[in-house]
Amino acid sequence: MQAEQGETDKAHYPKHIAIIMDGNGRWAQKRHLPRIMGHPAGVKAVKRVVKFCAEQEIQVLTLFAFSSENWRRPKEEVSKLMGLFMLTMQKEVKRLNKNNIRLRFIGERTDFAEKIQQKMTESERLTEKNTGLTLVIAANYGGHRDMALAMQSIAQQVKEGKVEPEEIDEAMIGNALSIPDLPDPDLFIRTGGEKRISNFLLWQLAYTEFHFTSKLWPDFDAQTMQDAIDGFLTRERRYGRTSEQVQSMSN
Ligand code: IPE
Ligand code: IPE
Ligand code: MG
Repeated sequence: MQAEQGETDKAHYPKHIAIIMDGNGRWAQKRHLPRIMGHPAGVKAVKRVVKFCAEQEIQVLTLFAFSSENWRRPKEEVSKLMGLFMLTMQKEVKRLNKNNIRLRFIGERTDFAEKIQQKMTESERLTEKNTGLTLVIAANYGGHRDMALAMQSIAQQVKEGKVEPEEIDEAMIGNALSIPDLPDPDLFIRTGGEKRISNFLLWQLAYTEFHFTSKLWPDFDAQTMQDAIDGFLTRERRYGRTSEQVQSMSN
C-alpha cells in the first residue's frame, strides 16, 4: 500500500522545478566569513539538488545562478562569481554528461568573457543529445529582458510582413522567449527568506506553485527539496476553475 501510494505521488511530481538559490552571502556571514565564501558552498548545494532531481526523474530543473541585476554587486564579488562559474563548468560538465543530463543556459551570454561563452556553448553541445534531466542555468538572465528580446523578434517578423499584429497571441509570445520547448515550471522555490521573484521567469511562472523557505541556499539538501515537493503534492491547481470542477475532472 505504502509503495503504491509512493508510485501515485511520483506521477504527480512537478515536471519542472525552478529555484532562486538565495542566501549564500548570509550563510557565510553567519560563520564570520567573507560573503563570497558562501558561493562555493552554494555550488555544493547545486550538486545535491541536481543529483536529487536526476534520481527522482524530474524532467527540468532551472536554477537562477546570476541575474541581470547582479552585475551591480561589488567588483570583487562579481569577479569571484565569474571564476566560480568557469571552474564549476570545467569540473562538473563531464560528470553531468555521464549522468545523461542535458545542460542549457538562458540569459544574455555576450556580456560574459569570451572563454566563458565558449565553455557554455561547448557544454551545451556535449550534452545536447542527453535524454535525462534537463538542467537549465539562468546566467545574466532577466525576465524583463527576455520579454523585450521576444518583442523585438516578433516586431521584426511584423516588419517583414510575415506576421499580422492581430496574430500575436500568447503562444507566439511564449515561443519567442527562452526555453519555449520546455514545460512551464510547476514548482518555484526560493530559499533565503525573501518573498519576491527578482526578475526571474516572469512569463513562465504565471501558474506555478510557489514555495518559500528561510533556509539559506548552502544548507539546501535532498530533504528540503522533498519537503517542497510534498507541499506541492497537497496543492490543488485550479487554473481558474472551481475546486468541484477540478475534482470531477480528475475522477
Ligand atoms: C545568491 O545568494 C547567489 C547569487 C545571487 C549569485 P546571495 O549572494 O544573494 O546571498 P544573500 O542574499 O546576500 O545572503
Ligand atoms: C536573485 O537573488 C538572483 C539569484 C539568485 C541569482 P538576489 O539576492 O540577487 O535577489 P535580490 O536582489 O535580493 O532581489
Ligand atoms: Mg540574495
